Amino acid sequence: MAVIEVNNLTKDYDHGRGIYDVSFEVNKGETLGFLGPNGAGKSTTMRHLMGFAAAQKGSAKILGMESRKEYAKILAHVGYLPGEVALPEGLNGTGFINMMQGLRKAKDQGRLEKLLDIFSIDLQQNVKRMSIGEKRKLAVVAAFMNDPDILLLDEPTSGLDPVMQEKFIEFIKEEKKRGKTILLSSHIFAEVEALCDRIAIIKEGKIVSVVEAAEVKHGLRKIVEITFNWKNDYHKFLLEKFEFESTDEEQNKVNIIMEDADINRFLDIIVNYNIASFVENPVTLEEYFMHFYKNDRKFGGVTNGKSNKYQ
Ligand SMILES: Nc1ncnc2c1ncn2[C@@H]1O[C@H](COP(=O)(O)OP(=O)(O)OP(=O)(O)O)[C@@H](O)[C@H]1O
Ligand SMILES: [Mg+2]
Repeated sequence: MAVIEVNNLTKDYDHGRGIYDVSFEVNKGETLGFLGPNGAGKSTTMRHLMGFAAAQKGSAKILGMESRKEYAKILAHVGYLPGEVALPEGLNGTGFINMMQGLRKAKDQGRLEKLLDIFSIDLQQNVKRMSIGEKRKLAVVAAFMNDPDILLLDEPTSGLDPVMQEKFIEFIKEEKKRGKTILLSSHIFAEVEALCDRIAIIKEGKIVSVVEAAEVKHGLRKIVEITFNWKNDYHKFLLEKFEFESTDEEQNKVNIIMEDADINRFLDIIVNYNIASFVENPVTLEEYFMHFYKNDRKFGGVTNGKSNKYQ
């Protein structure tokens, strides 16, 4: 069941800026990673889902309710962590937490204390004077304090130190186990890899790909680098039926692209050769997505969760 639904959502800010016909959904209990370069439209999409902005076309719905029309009802079910945390003047941490408890009708003191403990926040400090990371931790606590079933997290760990990032990932893993539905925008691949079930890629305001995280990981090819001791082995190996990514005659070296299905055949063949070195280089999710960010290879052609192979 789709808990978050975005259909042909369009907001044109002119000069090619904005979001155009953005469509995706997040099912109950699912975590969808929302990836894309700076200015691609992630925060804009999330703001529309929170009902903070009016679209020119299309719809943004949460639990079947139109975000713009029913934002007050939606707010009771959603924890939102904005990309840029703006905290009110004149409050210290405790004051801000008390204010948010009232606004969010968060009565579970035990949960609040648990969150404050995980993210170890100094509540005495004036919120305006807090560091970027401290502000973000406070916003994380505010987003989660009333234990919402749906979470819109816009770059939740940006500004957090590595220990806090790790704590945050562990915390979200627990929340996932509790069945939460999460839309998470991020530039941090470790976070995406650890948490996301599917990944939607947005570029220049348009969704270019939606992939199953497990399928991407499984579909990634390995590059195997083999250096032969003898030139004649090198030449003989070139006649074997493998996909060669590159060859280097001077160094008797080949790079072959290996699928899981090729491994047994490869092992049978390679024992007949005299090898100087063998290095396996798996393509990581990070490398996979970096190609997309750098725009140096064709990426995508994947919709409805059917992934292609790394190419
Ligand atoms: N209120 C606005 N008025 C005019 N242009 C806007 C407005 N909000 C966003 N934009 C533009 O829309 C585009 C998408 O911005 P958005 O903040 O959604 O990107 P993003 O994917 O969240 O980027 P980042 O990774 O840097 O957070 C950008 O080109 C931005 O300049
Ligand atoms: Mg953003």
